[in-house]
Amino acid sequence: MEKKTCITFFCLMSFAVSTELVYGVQRPGEESVDRVKLFIFGDSYADTGNLPSSTSSSWKQPYGITFPGKPSGRFSDGRVLTDYIASFLGIRSPVPYEWKKLEEKWIETGMNFAYGGTGVFNTLVDQPNMTAQINFFQQLVQENVYTRNNLSSSSIVLVSLSGNDYGTYFAKNGSLEGLEAFTKSVIDQLVLNLKRVHGFGVQKVAVTGIGPLGCLPSITASTSYQNCSDTGNNVAQFHNQLLQQNLHRLNNETGASSVFVFLDLYSAFSSALKFKQNHPENLTFKNGLKPCCLGVNGEGSCGSVDKSGTKKYVVCENPKQSFFWDSIHPSDQGWHAVYSALKRSLPSLV
Ligand SMILES: *[C@@H]1O[C@H](CO)[C@@H](O)[C@H](O)[C@H]1NC(C)=O
Ligand SMILES: *[C@@H]1O[C@H](CO)[C@@H](O)[C@H](O)[C@H]1NC(C)=O
Ligand SMILES: *[C@@H]1O[C@H](CO)[C@@H](O)[C@H](O)[C@H]1NC(C)=O
Ligand SMILES: *[C@@H]1O[C@H](CO)[C@@H](O)[C@H](O)[C@H]1NC(C)=O
Ligand SMILES: *[C@@H]1O[C@H](CO)[C@@H](O)[C@H](O)[C@H]1NC(C)=O
Ligand SMILES: *[C@@H]1O[C@H](CO)[C@@H](O)[C@H](O)[C@H]1NC(C)=O
Repeated sequence: MEKKTCITFFCLMSFAVSTELVYGVQRPGEESVDRVKLFIFGDSYADTGNLPSSTSSSWKQPYGITFPGKPSGRFSDGRVLTDYIASFLGIRSPVPYEWKKLEEKWIETGMNFAYGGTGVFNTLVDQPNMTAQINFFQQLVQENVYTRNNLSSSSIVLVSLSGNDYGTYFAKNGSLEGLEAFTKSVIDQLVLNLKRVHGFGVQKVAVTGIGPLGCLPSITASTSYQNCSDTGNNVAQFHNQLLQQNLHRLNNETGASSVFVFLDLYSAFSSALKFKQNHPENLTFKNGLKPCCLGVNGEGSCGSVDKSGTKKYVVCENPKQSFFWDSIHPSDQGWHAVYSALKRSLPSLV
């Protein structure tokens, strides 16, 4: 990844430049004081570059080929959920915590504390869990980088929890019998995190539900990307049900009915995935459940190369025809479709 040594904020990193061009809605002469700020916690569905560039595939080819044209630390060929929510709010996509400079221009639209691969609990990925991410945020609040006034007047929190806790649970040989208790512990921890974030004065906290895990290419590969797994989808739906109950309770307890907002990724993914079925004539998502970028011959994964530098992956001709970019993550076009489906619940954020 190239680093540039320009003086202005506009060329700190090449990807930041491109993002600014697309989301550059900074109106001339506009006061920055009450600019909407977005703070993000969570995982790869929201991370825009916090993982180390030396090791993460999100910083390697072919990630980023659609936008900005090269790897940008996102697990997508282009944008991720964060970028679409930021564009909805009319702000530049917030700077990743790892790249921040504590100057107004860097931090005025908020900050992204999400790290790919993480959950509320520690996962198989050695990166900050959500508690640790909130600790980073708390540190900045204690340093008055963001004042209580900044946070209560115009700030929005986005929490993306997409299933890494469950992936870890099953990888560690968790049983189906123990799943209900484990789900409750995930939700309990998530609720603690949400309350803590709200405690900083933020008046809107949006939380994603989990998408249809059973439809992820990593799961459907065994059926040649034909059939979703009911078990995986049930895991997601049980989590989502508990989460929604808890959000109702939290909203009730805070006495304001709409502080905590549920973003229904399950329905949004499902309607995007049904698009092909309902519009077979359309080229959009022609590839169904099959990801655009995948490992060859059951070895490797999107972005992997062997010791001699030979690619161990293939990329589809037109990423716009795939809902999924790799075996876990939606493509730029996939996220666009999800965003379109979510738009109905987004106005409650502002
Ligand atoms: C926070 O608000 C103050 C005014 O209350 C403003 O001067 C400052 O720029 C804001 N900070 C950020 C990071 O936007
Ligand atoms: C988060 O990570 C820290 C450091 O690894 C650990 O001590 C803590 O228990 C974790 N929190 C949760 C809720 O798992
Ligand atoms: C998983 O756990 C069950 C019961 O706890 C045990 O019988 C089984 O051998 C374990 N499997 C693996 C692969 O560790
Ligand atoms: C997928 O599901 C259909 C209908 O339920 C079934 O007929 C088919 O055998 C399944 N395919 C695979 C590869 O499991
Ligand atoms: C919270 O729930 C109680 C009991 O169901 C109800 O009486 C009260 O009006 C609710 N408060 C809010 C703010 O929704
Ligand atoms: C099919 O895709 C084109 C653009 O790719 C779009 O303009 C059109 O509205 C789509 N058709 C349907 C039925 O959504």
